Amino acid sequence: MKYPFRKIITALLITAIFILFDSRLALSQTGNPGIPRLIKQDSVVQLFVNNKPFIILGGELNNSSSSSIAYMQPIWKQVKNLNFNTLVTPLSWEQIEPQEGVFDFSLVDSLISSARQNNLHLVFLWLASWKNGMSSYPPIWVKRDYKKYKRAVIQNGQTQEILSTLCAANLQADAAAFGALMKHIREFDGEQHTVVMMQVENEVGILGDSRDRSDAANAAFNSAVPKELLTYLVKNKENLVPEIKNQWAQSGFKTNGTWEEVFGKGPDCDKLFMAWNYSGYVNAVAAAGKKEYPIPMYANAWLDGGNAKPGDYPSGGPLASVMDIWKAHITAIDLFAPDLYAADYDERCQKFTQRGNTLFIPEMNSSDDGARNIFIAIGKYNAIGVSPFGIDHLKDADKSLFTKSYDILQQLSPLILDKQIKKQVIGFVVDEKTPIVSCEMNGYRLEISLDELFGQRASIGYGIVMADGPDKFIGGGSGFRVRFFPSAKNSKSMIGIGGVTEGIFKNDEWVPGRRLNGDEDDQGRAWRFAWWQESIEKCSIYKYE
Ligand code: DGJ
Repeated sequence: MKYPFRKIITALLITAIFILFDSRLALSQTGNPGIPRLIKQDSVVQLFVNNKPFIILGGELNNSSSSSIAYMQPIWKQVKNLNFNTLVTPLSWEQIEPQEGVFDFSLVDSLISSARQNNLHLVFLWLASWKNGMSSYPPIWVKRDYKKYKRAVIQNGQTQEILSTLCAANLQADAAAFGALMKHIREFDGEQHTVVMMQVENEVGILGDSRDRSDAANAAFNSAVPKELLTYLVKNKENLVPEIKNQWAQSGFKTNGTWEEVFGKGPDCDKLFMAWNYSGYVNAVAAAGKKEYPIPMYANAWLDGGNAKPGDYPSGGPLASVMDIWKAHITAIDLFAPDLYAADYDERCQKFTQRGNTLFIPEMNSSDDGARNIFIAIGKYNAIGVSPFGIDHLKDADKSLFTKSYDILQQLSPLILDKQIKKQVIGFVVDEKTPIVSCEMNGYRLEISLDELFGQRASIGYGIVMADGPDKFIGGGSGFRVRFFPSAKNSKSMIGIGGVTEGIFKNDEWVPGRRLNGDEDDQGRAWRFAWWQESIEKCSIYKYE
């Protein structure tokens, strides 16, 4: 009998490739290959869950909803009807450790089990030392023992209901509780990976003053700026975020001295000092959790803006303007996330992708504007996920634009994840303020504008467009049209529409619907997405002279 050498060699090769691929994914997480993790490919970071890339189409509950299993019962179905794939939900320190060292994880288990029954993932928010700058979530045994668990003090000498970052007992207690929680999540969910990410604390930073003025804080503020921070700043001087570079430039880039000597006097210097202290604390809490179960973890920010000064918003939180202070000593926080209610959505996304930061938006408006803006976050800034806030009130799925936007994004997710890495995707909102969005893609220049027909024009358009092979594109959304031009400026070619087909993806398979021509592509003038509906469409183009 002839021995099938070829077959054996082919089998060995396939096995080797599989092992190589699998070990690339496994990275440092040996023993738990499907664990949620962030993987960077060609400068694009994506969230992988069970070894597959995943976009979080989430929704965040109101703060107190998940404190009661009974209250949650109708919400699970509601969330599914809205086409969410992930629930972003609080877990409070006070409920998990009601007595010092005595833990109750029944709520955690119930939330994870219900999420599984409803085919949802979870992002847990660890509401512990701080929530919106304040300390209302530590257990009562921490709150009462204020001599041990010290508070921040502000300008008028008034002690605040804000735990001080400079009290070791605060950090130890919080980190121990978070470590215990993560150990429990690993034991309960380490194989199924229902929980995909953790938010550590919520919108940290001091309120009512630009810095903590407790004795410990004053002593640290009047001491030398830590070497670790200065070494980082020197090493990254050319790439620092502009706010920090300008602040440091005031002293001629001094590399030793107190905080005021290095960064100049005033609230902005105080903010950097607080950023250093909050980042150290939050990082240590996250590290205690990652030691037990290393899934992605992030810190979220209450944004600055307008005339607000540090202390009007939480001073020291992970804002884009202090990103380099946080980056200087974080090891366990994977990304900084904006709570993005601001109108300048696109600009804020851009700021939060500075310095290689991966975008995730844990909170934003649940309005129709929000349901449009998410296309910018995912299609333009490669966000790993988005999540409108306070979704309990979105009771009627048919009336929420999120239901439709998430349906489109869910169907297109496999393609989006592929095209993000190939840099062949654009997400946008077009309106009176931004009537045209242009980009180069697939060898063409695309001009995306408000849809119009027979003199009538859409007031707003939004969506996502991707390359789908040579001379082919695919997109989803509403109220916009795409025209194509040659990339080369001196080209004489004109670009015509070869054909447009609407359709849906069922189990990742394309199911074509109507062939769109005539009015539906403005007699061949443009690839249209009519403003009275949401659709997914494929378009092919051709050149003529
Ligand atoms: C931001 C906080 O992070 C949320 O918990 C909630 O308080 C919202 N603000 C309310 O708008």
